[in-house]
Amino acid sequence: MRSQQILLIIGGGIAAYKSLELIRLLARDGIAVRTILTRAGEEFVTPLSLAALSRAPVHRDLFSLTDEAQMGHIELSRAADLVVVAPATADLMAKAASGEANDLATTTLLATDKPVLMAPAMNVRMWQHPATQRNLARLKADGVSFVGPEDGAMACGEFGPGRMAEPPAILEVIRSLMGAQGQLKGIKALVTAGPTHEPLDPVRYIANRSSGRQGYAIARALVAAGAQTTLISGPVNLPAVAGARLLSVETAEQMLAATREALPVDVAIFCAAVADWRAESVAEQKLKKTPGPPTLRFAANPDILATISRGPHRPRLVIGFAAETQAIVAHGKDKLARKGCDWILANDVSPSSGVMGGTHNRVHLITARGDEEWPELDKAEVATRLVARIATALQGAS
Ligand code: C5P
Repeated sequence: MRSQQILLIIGGGIAAYKSLELIRLLARDGIAVRTILTRAGEEFVTPLSLAALSRAPVHRDLFSLTDEAQMGHIELSRAADLVVVAPATADLMAKAASGEANDLATTTLLATDKPVLMAPAMNVRMWQHPATQRNLARLKADGVSFVGPEDGAMACGEFGPGRMAEPPAILEVIRSLMGAQGQLKGIKALVTAGPTHEPLDPVRYIANRSSGRQGYAIARALVAAGAQTTLISGPVNLPAVAGARLLSVETAEQMLAATREALPVDVAIFCAAVADWRAESVAEQKLKKTPGPPTLRFAANPDILATISRGPHRPRLVIGFAAETQAIVAHGKDKLARKGCDWILANDVSPSSGVMGGTHNRVHLITARGDEEWPELDKAEVATRLVARIATALQGAS
């Protein structure tokens, strides 16, 4: 399969240095990058750094004999899945909005029939100027997507909107735009993630340890593959996933209600560490320190995975997680049967594994056909692998 390719146009702004980081992140994800550097861009980054990071020649001239022979402006955009302009300066936006074509960057933008994403970067007053806002509206109407700018301190010493979005944020939008043609296009997915908090009184709660990282990574991978994704999240400290619908909840009962609301879907992945119990009754006022410890009575929480697996509107593919500290496969198999789901991803969360709150995960994929041990992978890679398996399974089933 041909790897995905981005055509990155780098305009002349101080934020151009961030584009180097963007190229590095794209390369890490296996996305090939071709670059066009504008004349003004050359003042901020060198063609040599771009060529070294992208491992490809940098295109600069509209009338370059060698480039035109091998890859002219039409060919450059034809080979790309997406054209990204970062930084998109006020000048580049103005030219693109009016259809000017007097250098390689603007000619390519006019000649392309591929989706275009712009990451604006400019002085706050330039951004707020009616002319720029008019160009922005026109470009949006022409179908151009935007990421940023963000608020913050700027190199010119001012504060306000105008900073180029950070490379990881641009990457997320790129992934979701490319996913629009991805292997899960037309598929609806839901993911539960994070812990649930079960209040005891207005200030105290019980919860399981969960960072939400694995669930968020799965939601991100689903979006990247083009799935219409709902992320149902307990309280976590993570940035939202661009392109996914986020339903934030606190308790298990709220999570179940949100999950039901998100149905019907084709695939549901239950990654949340749902608290098994909640306080039978939540104290209206803060429980006072009495001489002895209080006696708390608990009630069982609904099992969201089992309820959805056995309920109406069952997704075509239901996937659960099993966090275990011992006999991982045996407990995973048992859970598969008890919960009525199709697959279980069982992982070792014993303190020595470092999985809890960490960046890596070692999982077993347990299905009715057997058990498969995956190597230790970054949580993002676990997510990508899982999504590839989901795509294969759903294609096989349809
Ligand atoms: O907590 P337990 O090990 O039973 O979790 C196994 C799977 O069931 C996980 O996928 C978890 O998200 C899901 N689960 C749930 N609702 C619960 C408890 C667990 O959806 N109340």
